[in-house]
Amino acid sequence: MSQTAIVTGGGSGIGLGITKALLSKGYKVSVWDLSCILSHENLLYCKVDVTKTQTITQALEKTLSAFGKISVLVNSAGIAIACPVITLNSVHSLEDFERVLHVNIIGMFDVCRQVARHMVDGVIINISSINAYEGTRVISAYSASKGAVNGLTLPMARDLAQYGIRVVGICPGLIETPMGMLIKEVNRNIYIKETLSKRMGTTEELAHAVMFVIENKYMNGVNFRIDSGGINPHI
Ligand SMILES: NC(=O)c1ccc[n+]([C@@H]2O[C@H](COP(=O)([O-])OP(=O)(O)OC[C@H]3O[C@@H](n4cnc5c(N)ncnc54)[C@H](O)[C@@H]3O)[C@@H](O)[C@H]2O)c1
Repeated sequence: MSQTAIVTGGGSGIGLGITKALLSKGYKVSVWDLSCILSHENLLYCKVDVTKTQTITQALEKTLSAFGKISVLVNSAGIAIACPVITLNSVHSLEDFERVLHVNIIGMFDVCRQVARHMVDGVIINISSINAYEGTRVISAYSASKGAVNGLTLPMARDLAQYGIRVVGICPGLIETPMGMLIKEVNRNIYIKETLSKRMGTTEELAHAVMFVIENKYMNGVNFRIDSGGINPHI
C-alpha cells in the first residue's frame, strides 16, 4: 500500500521540491496551498490558507477520504516580510508582524494539531530557517516566527511520541526559490560568499534531507541546519 503525505506550501519552492521527491518515491501527496500548478495522478490539491482553520479541517477530510491515512506531514508554507522595526519616519506595522506569526507558527501549529489526530507511526517535519538562530535585520517578525518553530519541535515530539509520531525541524540557509530570490541580489551575493559551498542551496537538497528524516526512525525532537556552514551576515 502506498505511503501518504501532506505538504503545506507544496505549490512552490521547497515544498514543491519535497512534493516532487515524494511522488517519485511512490507517495500519494496532498498539497495544501493557496495555489498549485503541478498535476500528477498521485497528487491531490486542496486549497488551504493555514491562517483559516476551517480550510485545514476541510482539506483534512478530503485527504482522509482520498488516502485513508496519513504517514508524513511536511509544513513548508511560510511568508517573509522585509521591514525594519523603525525608520526615521515609520514604525513596523503590528498587522505585518502578526501576519507573519500567524502563517509561520500559528498556522503551522493548527495544521499539526489537526493532522496529528489522524496519524499513526508518522513523522511531522517543519521547515524552519537558520534565522531561528541568528536573524538578520529587517526580518524581525520572520526570525521570531522561526525561533518559535524551533521551540515547538521538542515539546511536540514529547507530546506525540506515545502515538508513534516523530517531530523534526529543518533549518535551511538560502535556497533557490521564489522566496529566496526576493532577497536583493547584492545581499544574496554577500550571503553566498559566507557559505562554504559559495552558492545557494537547491530544493532537491532540501527534499533529500526530508527523505532522510522520513527514513531514519531514530531522528526525533531535533532541529538541524542545512546551510553549508552559512552565517547570516549583518546585511
Ligand atoms: N528560500 C529560502 O531561502 C528559505 C530559507 C529558509 C527557510 N525557508 C522556509 O521554507 C519554507 C518554504 O519557503 P520557499 O522558499 O519555498 O517559499 P515560496 O514562497 O516559494 O513557497 C511558500 C509557499 O507557501 C505558500 N503559502 C504562503 N502563505 C500561505 C498560507 N497562508 N496558507 C497556505 N500556504 C501558504 C505559498 O503559496 C507558497 O506556495 C518557508 O517556511 C520558508 O520560511 C526558505
